[in-house]
Parts: sequence; structure tokens; C-alpha cells
Amino acid sequence: MTDAEDPLFQPLTLGDLELPNRIVMAPLTRARAGQPGDVPTALNAEYYRQRAGAGLIFSEATQVSPQGKGYAFTPGIHSQEQVAGWRQVTDAVHEAGGRIYAQLWHVGRVSRPELQPNGEKPVAPSAIQPETMVFISAESGMVPCQEPRALETEEMADIVAQFRQGAENARAAGFDGVEIHAANGYLLDQFLRTHSNRRSDEYGGSVANRLRLPLEVVDTVVDVWGTERTGIRVSPTGTFNDMHDDDPVATYGALAEELQARGIAFMEVVEDSFQGNEVEGRPEPVIDAIHAGFRRSYMGNGAYTAEEARSRIHDGRCDLASFGRPYIANPDLAERFRRGAPLNEWDEATFYGGDETGYTDYPFMAEANPA
Ligand code: FNR
Repeated sequence: MTDAEDPLFQPLTLGDLELPNRIVMAPLTRARAGQPGDVPTALNAEYYRQRAGAGLIFSEATQVSPQGKGYAFTPGIHSQEQVAGWRQVTDAVHEAGGRIYAQLWHVGRVSRPELQPNGEKPVAPSAIQPETMVFISAESGMVPCQEPRALETEEMADIVAQFRQGAENARAAGFDGVEIHAANGYLLDQFLRTHSNRRSDEYGGSVANRLRLPLEVVDTVVDVWGTERTGIRVSPTGTFNDMHDDDPVATYGALAEELQARGIAFMEVVEDSFQGNEVEGRPEPVIDAIHAGFRRSYMGNGAYTAEEARSRIHDGRCDLASFGRPYIANPDLAERFRRGAPLNEWDEATFYGGDETGYTDYPFMAEANPA
């Protein structure tokens, strides 16, 4: 197949950004930020530089505030040192000809007092303990989450301000745009879905109320970046971090309409639970509802192969696809897809934390298959 025939290599304008291909590197937490201070390092820059052949790179989730942190060793984007660290990353990707967006993150209840300012309880829409674990230190490893503190109505403005600061810092750090993390059971997702949001004020209850905080965050980020460089990630049927929604078609159909009205550039939809494909197939009714409401770019994610991405782009089910685990193991994933070359396998043991092993040492094609 030539590039002209390959759906994955049709150029795409995402917002106002030209992408040379439709192969996106999904956001991937790797827990290798420099210490102290959760500051991106030269090693992190090298990892992203290696992957610059992607049409677009998403940074790993980066916490917008100390309160937004839920795991040891994840990078932040709230201190000046962190902004300078991210600048090394964005410079490296740009020098290699790539494009990179920051994924803005607040974990909400998926945290622990050990990780929070002054040892406080993590915050959430409602005081409901999630059945999930977080990594708090090299010594203690993974520990269960506890009951969070429900945010007061008056505190919502501060959450919005945290995302605004993150968006401004992402500009200062040289990113090309931002993706708001509203997926995988973190704070904005906790507001969206019925299982985690039992509030009785205007931020809970009806669909419109559950969308309110995520949309306030969208508005503030658009204010900083404009619609063309703003996107959002959602996971309507994902169960990771103890999540569930009673009616994802209604919730995410309404969200799609609101996002269309605001005109943001893309929605990235995790179409499955990323922990081992627990859902049978893709949630087509939810995907239909999103397509009905949102007509800008749709990015599919979750256990995609090159073949399935080609076929779903061809069929109009998505405009582009993001790849997570395949990008961990294949820095030159796009080129491998272009040539139909075999892929390196990923090693779960080195996903989170550690050094260059399982991070920057996965071989490129030429190294794996010397001529
Ligand atoms: C993830 N995922 C993820 N998602 C996200 O929105 N922000 C993040 O920081 C992370 N971090 C992360 C780390 C690791 C090690 C894994 C395996 C996954 C989810 C990821 O972006 C993607 O949705 C899943 O990996 C499913 O896509 P693939 O891997 O099947 O292409």
C-alpha cells in the first residue's frame, strides 16, 4: 500500500494544526519525573524525541496543581522548574519534526493524604471511596485509596483556576496545544459519571449538572488556547478506578453536543477499558451518540491495531487513532505501520517508574532488523 492509499497516512488538520499522519501517541504515565519537584528531565525529553514520528504526541498526564497529584513520580505543570523541564521536552520533539500536546490532569479522589499538600484528604465530587490503588512511594508501593472529601460548591472556581494555570503553563512550556483529561476515573470524570457524583448542588444530579464543572474547565482552557488547540479525552464505558455511569449514551451524547457548541478541535474517546479489554468490542451506541453531537475530529483509542484503525477511519467511525502500549514499545511505530513491519512487545514490568530500561531502550526497526 502506498501512502496515498493508506488511510493512516492521509494528512489531517486537527483544529488548525497540520498532522502528517493519523497515528497519535496516547497519553502514557511513566512515573519517571525528576526528584524532588516532579520535574521533567533530559531522559524524558529523549523518550518523547524518539517518538516524534507520530502525527501528534500527547504528553503523559501532568498534574495542574499539588492537589491534582495522585501517584509518586508523575510530572507536574504548576512550578517554574516543571515548566522549564517541559520546555526541554517540547524543544526536543520540535527539533525532531514532531508536535506535542500537554494532557492536563487533576486526579481528584484517586490519591492519598501522603501525596497531598499538608497531608489533607484528596478531593472529589462526593465522599465515596474508590476501590482502586495508587503508588505512593518506592518503599510503600501501591496502596488502596481512602474516602475523599467532597468539594464545597465555592471550591469549584479554584479547580477551574488550577486548570487555567496549567493551560497557561503549557503555553509557556512550548506545547502545541492541550488535552483536558476527563477520562479514566480522575476528577473531571468523577463529576461526569453517576457512580462517583452524588451531589445535590448544581454540580451533580442531572446530566447538565454533572457536565457543569468539566465544561467550565473547557471554557477556561479555550480562553487560554483557543478552540483550535483544545481537545478533551473521555472514557464513557471505562471501569478503571472504580467507574460507572448509568446511562453513558445520555451523558456523553449531551457532552458531545456541548463540546460541539463550544467548537473545540477534538474528542479522544477511550472506547474500552484499557486494563485488559474488559468490554466486549467497542461501545458503538455511545460512539454513535458522540458522533451525532460532535462533528469536529474524533480520535479513537483502546487496543487499536494498524489494521483496525485503517478500517475504522475508512468507515468514518474515527478520523484518527491513538496508540498507547504499542508506542511504549515502538518509538518508530508510525514507520513500522507504514512498512507493515513487526512490532516490539511491551514489558509491563517497566511501565511505571525506574530508569531508561523499558523507556528509551526499545529498539528502532533498523536496530531490531539489521540489513
Ligand atoms: C495509560 N493510559 C493513560 N491515559 C491517560 O489519559 N493518561 C495517562 O497518563 C495514561 N497513562 C497510562 C500509562 C500506561 C502505562 C498505560 C498502559 C495506559 C491509558 C492509555 O492512554 C490508553 O488509553 C490505553 O493504553 C489503551 O490504549 P492501547 O494501549 O490499547 O493503545
